[in-house]
Amino acid sequence: MSTKPVIGTDKRLTERQDLWWLEPLLVAVVLTSFVIYTIWAVLQRSDFHFGPYTSPFYSIPFTSAEKLEWLPFSPAFLVIWIPIGFRATCYYFRRNMYRAFFWDPPACWVAEPKRSYSGERKFPFVLNNLHRYFWYLAVFALFFHIYEAGKAFFFEDGFGMGLGTLIMLLDVTFLSLYIFSCHSWRHLAGGCLNCFSKHKGRYTLWQRISQLNEQHGLWFWLSLMTVWVTDIYIRLLSKGILTDVRFF
Ligand code: FES
Repeated sequence: MSTKPVIGTDKRLTERQDLWWLEPLLVAVVLTSFVIYTIWAVLQRSDFHFGPYTSPFYSIPFTSAEKLEWLPFSPAFLVIWIPIGFRATCYYFRRNMYRAFFWDPPACWVAEPKRSYSGERKFPFVLNNLHRYFWYLAVFALFFHIYEAGKAFFFEDGFGMGLGTLIMLLDVTFLSLYIFSCHSWRHLAGGCLNCFSKHKGRYTLWQRISQLNEQHGLWFWLSLMTVWVTDIYIRLLSKGILTDVRFF
């Protein structure tokens, strides 16, 4: 198969009449907003905690971010590189990144302005090959998100459940679906096998992951949105702008 890019032969990029530009535009706006918000939230070093809730940006293994105030930098930096590395090297994210930010190409049957293509063999794109290792780290980090979601049931006045608990549970659920629908995990489970019938367990696992994997893009967006909403909700509670809703 040729690796040469489709290049427009006249002034038009495409003959498509539909709104092909809408998806890359929305992706660019949402991802840019998320990145700007994340940088801001990480640099804040405050309002990441309220009652039993802790923002996922500050979900730090073995200790709490409040105990790390002595650090000369935001404690969020200790963990934030894991989800950043994991998402930035995700196959689904890469498709969106190339379309929305590099127009490489921006959509199907649309010519790309670039005239050369070097694949992902050069720095920094060659780092995408680290995705599998970021997957291991993401699973490790997920346990601490689950721990934080569990803690969100234990209020000062005892066991209970608030809107924050529900949001944190949703966050952990979508994050789990995102992590366990990963293409690398699918390959780990069922790749490099010559004969599925001799590895029934791995084949069944591979089939389940394949079902989840069909919606990988959806889990990507839902987990991104819930992590964002969780941080905003806890921040607004901490600032006294919102009052938590307690169900029991
Ligand atoms: Fe998207 Fe692995 S391919 S998280």
